[in-house]
Amino acid sequence: MSEDKNAYAALAWQVEAGADEAILNEARKRFLKPEPAAKPAPGISTATTAAKTTATGSKRSASVPLHMEAPDEAAKSAAALAAACNTLDELRDAMAGFDGCALKNTAMNLVFGDGNPGSGLMFVGEAPGADEDREGKPFVGVSGQMLDRMIGAINRDRTSAYITNMIPWRPPGNRNPDPSELMVCLPFIRRHIELVAPKVLVLTGGVAAKTMLKTKVGITRLRGKWHTYDTEAGPIPALAMYHPAYLLRQPAQKRLAWQDLLRLEEKLTELG
Ligand code: URA
Repeated sequence: MSEDKNAYAALAWQVEAGADEAILNEARKRFLKPEPAAKPAPGISTATTAAKTTATGSKRSASVPLHMEAPDEAAKSAAALAAACNTLDELRDAMAGFDGCALKNTAMNLVFGDGNPGSGLMFVGEAPGADEDREGKPFVGVSGQMLDRMIGAINRDRTSAYITNMIPWRPPGNRNPDPSELMVCLPFIRRHIELVAPKVLVLTGGVAAKTMLKTKVGITRLRGKWHTYDTEAGPIPALAMYHPAYLLRQPAQKRLAWQDLLRLEEKLTELG
């Protein structure tokens, strides 16, 4: 093999393994050896070095936390933090300060939410991709354009819908979030939904639908039906739909998605 071919094969191998960015604006000391320190408060990092300002203006640690909790401990810490939040701003700050999810270490930004939390309509996706990570906003890449078209089909836009994700940090290489990452972040999305208190919840894709509806049933069977999502304040009607990224890969399924959107519009009209 020529040197060029070797270099190309090495690059292709890295892309296959999930590497999709070669450089960052700032060097990141991912494997920094930590200094011993006092045990931090649950889930909150006191054990990081320099803070950096992210695209969304929130400060976050620029290096690996000293102390990484086990996922079940981290989920408990997340639950305690989430329960103490009474506004979306408090929740965003609590999530920005939480170091119990390893995805934060490789993400550039916390991706919290976008749109109008008072609109009565809330979409929950899976996790940010590269564009969302860069901008610190959910659904701003090609999937986001598709989601905007879906929302547009029921005569709404981001001023009349609210959008967030199950996971607020980008999984490296856009892999699916794993079950322990979902478990750790679940208290945050649950509190997020409670604070937004939408009239209607839309769960886009199998990960959001199965996790929030606590079922192993696949999205093909869940979609297009009304389910109930229970909160402390009462039940919220929840519609499962195909994820916009899936519709981009399988355009023939848009027919079903558009039927689901009609169902959604009907429900919104009914609820006023
Ligand atoms: N896919 C998601 O599920 N969420 C985003 O924010 C972007 C793509």
